[in-house]
Amino acid sequence: MPNIISGFSKLTKSEKIEWLLDTYFKDKDSSRTLVKRYWNSDEKLQKLHDEFIENTITNYYLPLGVAPNFLINGTLYAIPMAIEESSVVAAASKAAKFWYERGGFKTEVISTEKIGQVHFTYAGGSSDLEVFFNTVKPKLISATAEITKNMKRRGGGILDIELKNKTEDLNNYYQLHATFETLDAMGANFINSCLEQFAQTLKREAELSLDGDLDLIMSILSNYVPNCLVRAEVSCPISELKSKDIANPDLFAEKFKQAVNIAEIETYRAVTHNKGIMNGIDAVVLATGNDFRAVEAGVHAYASRNGKYTSLTHCSIENNTFKFWIEIPLALGTVGGLTSLHPLVKFSLDMLNKPTAKDLMQIVAVAGLAQNFAAVKSLTTTGIQEGHMKMHLMNILNQFEATSEEKIKIVEHFKTHVVTHSAVVEAIENIRIK
Ligand code: MEV
Repeated sequence: MPNIISGFSKLTKSEKIEWLLDTYFKDKDSSRTLVKRYWNSDEKLQKLHDEFIENTITNYYLPLGVAPNFLINGTLYAIPMAIEESSVVAAASKAAKFWYERGGFKTEVISTEKIGQVHFTYAGGSSDLEVFFNTVKPKLISATAEITKNMKRRGGGILDIELKNKTEDLNNYYQLHATFETLDAMGANFINSCLEQFAQTLKREAELSLDGDLDLIMSILSNYVPNCLVRAEVSCPISELKSKDIANPDLFAEKFKQAVNIAEIETYRAVTHNKGIMNGIDAVVLATGNDFRAVEAGVHAYASRNGKYTSLTHCSIENNTFKFWIEIPLALGTVGGLTSLHPLVKFSLDMLNKPTAKDLMQIVAVAGLAQNFAAVKSLTTTGIQEGHMKMHLMNILNQFEATSEEKIKIVEHFKTHVVTHSAVVEAIENIRIK
């Protein structure tokens, strides 16, 4: 077993790599070469990436793809997607084209409120605490003046602070539950700074004028943002669903709706259904420098807001009209964070015509809806494997280190044959034997 290392963070990048190679790798030379092969030759750019996180040794690439032809409220977008899974970008592009020909996506931001909480305990009477809170509330807000002045000037800031009594759930537990408008910033730092200031003021004022001990536990934003909601929708007369892969639009609409209804009532299916939605959402969130873990956590909590995990999308068939929509919470930023630091994030935001946070919420929701439409359409018609394996073909060929010539022959062959892993292996072997 290797020895514990102290002071690792203080080592230089090369020292860190050498320690790792010495400690965990047998073939040190090829591992060192691999790590260095992924360094960027532009030293300034490499330094920028090194400084995004701690203990950096190299870069971990993800492909950045583009799904064009997204018509959203009459504007045409090409959407950047950072993702490693084959067939996701192709599916998004296909759905975009399909709905472009049927009026495009309609979206609307429903609300933009963010949330943060100061968690504390108080052993005294709850009505005393309430009286104290009402007196101290203006001070809680005024003490954050320095932190909030720029945000306020732009039209955002603290919306409200409430005292929440949670003592029925946990002994002596209370919260300051605060709501914020952070405009184009995701707002995590702004919210957390405000919360820590609330906590300080609360503690100080409690010591001056409240009987009994008030103990601060923690202050942190919530990634659950059910009031930072966006809706995206597609609809068309059922007859217009007719297309190359949809011979019978009535049957397609019914089956599609049934598949969505299944995801609404069946958790096992809902999780996979929503995973497909997140394929689209995470890819755009990542490409635009936003925090996909925060989005994931918030979205899945929202999917279980009524006590049962359910589908994020819904479908209706009324008056011969097929309608398919999503409503999700998305706390996103287009300023601050990585948005002006990571050159490809900047590039992605430029591709989207420098969106506001509200614009980005709508684009991301559309990416999720499109992805889900493509997945459910495939699942209820051809099955997922046909398209998926076609897109995955190149990964299998690369696994077997196929040459360009072999790739051309095999791709041609599979234009008329079903792609499975074993069929591809067989095709490679046949070519190589010849
Ligand atoms: C695969 O990444 C996503 C799907 O499983 C989504 C779904 O089943 O709806 C195809």
